[in-house]
Amino acid sequence: MREGDAVTADPADTAIDPLPPDRAYYRVGRATRRLVVVSNRVTPMGGAKPDSGGLAMAIRSALQESGGMWFGWSGEVAEEPTDEPGIAVDGPLTFATLDLSRRDYDEYYIGYANRVLWPLFHYRSELVEFSRRYLAGYLRVNQMFAQRLAPMLSTQDLVWVHDYHLIPLGEELRKLGRTQPIGFFLHTPFPAAELFRVLPNHRDLVRSLCAYDLVGFQTQQDLDGFRDYLLRWARGEELGRGVWQAFGRIVRAQVFPIGIDVGTVAAQAANADGTRHMGRLRQSVGNRALMIGVDRLDYSKGLAARFQAYSHLLETHQETRGRTVLIQIAPPSRSEVPEYQEMRKTLAAVAGQINSRYGEFDWTPLRYINKSFSHQILAGFFRASRIALVTSLRDGMNLVAKEYVASQPADDPGVLILSCFAGAARELGEAVIVNPFDIEGMAEAILQGLNMPVGERKERWAAMMKVLERNDITAWRERFVRALSAIDTRR
Ligand code: UDP
Ligand code: G6P
Repeated sequence: MREGDAVTADPADTAIDPLPPDRAYYRVGRATRRLVVVSNRVTPMGGAKPDSGGLAMAIRSALQESGGMWFGWSGEVAEEPTDEPGIAVDGPLTFATLDLSRRDYDEYYIGYANRVLWPLFHYRSELVEFSRRYLAGYLRVNQMFAQRLAPMLSTQDLVWVHDYHLIPLGEELRKLGRTQPIGFFLHTPFPAAELFRVLPNHRDLVRSLCAYDLVGFQTQQDLDGFRDYLLRWARGEELGRGVWQAFGRIVRAQVFPIGIDVGTVAAQAANADGTRHMGRLRQSVGNRALMIGVDRLDYSKGLAARFQAYSHLLETHQETRGRTVLIQIAPPSRSEVPEYQEMRKTLAAVAGQINSRYGEFDWTPLRYINKSFSHQILAGFFRASRIALVTSLRDGMNLVAKEYVASQPADDPGVLILSCFAGAARELGEAVIVNPFDIEGMAEAILQGLNMPVGERKERWAAMMKVLERNDITAWRERFVRALSAIDTRR
């Protein structure tokens, strides 16, 4: 969400009242608490960077309204990073960010976070490049983050740590004597226990997770992976209602599927009509059926198989030639990671093959764009698209799927084609669900979407909108914060 956007908060729906006029505090029992969010990626001032991914987009939306402090990496690599975090204030929200040294960036961010944990958590164990140097860098940066953050915390603060980069952070804060409630939310999948054991330091990571008071996952399946691990490999004991005893600690583990700011996305989509971008899009597409994909350039997103499915459709259903256009927006991501460089080359080649095989002098079937677009522009593009393709091989949630649904016009909604391996499929069962490893099946799903009557599209869309509205970004934040505060009250 960007500055100045409306929010869809419904204070009556929340157990914790934000205290006006300073919205940066929560009232919990008799105490007044500030919410401190910690994540590796922090979006810059003035709105989220368009290609910064779901985590930053979601936290920005969640914090815009509640306020508080957002602590993390500045996104900069410095020759000699200073010890003091850089501070910036934006209304009720304070940003505190640290630069990384080149070595920390290489070992912690590129190395352990993105060449070990990311592929493993997305079920790509063959891409894992474990090394002890990467692991040491990961632990060092987590310790450094804790040392810089600890003096900024008051005993009353609620601390909420996000994502796989910072799993050991809570334990490090505990070592420094911080006693307040500390929660953790994993935006990615948590793998099946047997896959998790591929990590040489699997036990230490789970012990670190157990140092949090509350650990949140996107789906039941992710929670199951964690529970299985606790049961089989950590002699964990379930004390009931999601509370576990393991490694001599008590931890609560629960599912909190992340949502979006439905009202803002819908308004952005509706307001896009008449803008210059929309005019250019409409003119270039004509009366062809527009299909869209929007993904960071990441191997977890299943882009090659998606392109192949489109190619299969054009090959086997010649009537679709000249009548469809697929726009794939894929901003480059983690370009210093070799596996991402490799994938970029492959995708450019596949896209070129499709266009050279099926293209005509006046029709390009696939528009493959390695650029990012703002949320506003995307919302308009979504609204104009008859089909969205979200065919990740694995995905924690996938916010694009939710944003596409929220952008649709009620009287003529489009069709969401959604991977059964994206967390969003657990909530959006009314999408056309596909197996992203089944190329022919995906081609059939596209055909089904192109031919789906408006009555069926409306029914499916209305059911999905209900889910999105019930569990929007505010509900997600409030559920987590309420659960974290409740633990503290009992303590
Ligand atoms: N996004 C954007 N501009 C782009 C591409 C993506 O604003 O050019 C946003 C998109 O709207 C969504 C987020 O980035 O809010 C991507 O989140 P998602 O959960 O789909 O995937 P992730 O990148 O986190 O894996
Ligand atoms: C996913 C991860 C986030 C990450 C984002 C963008 O959404 O879950 O933690 O911030 O991708 O990736 P990046 O490496 O650019 O932060």
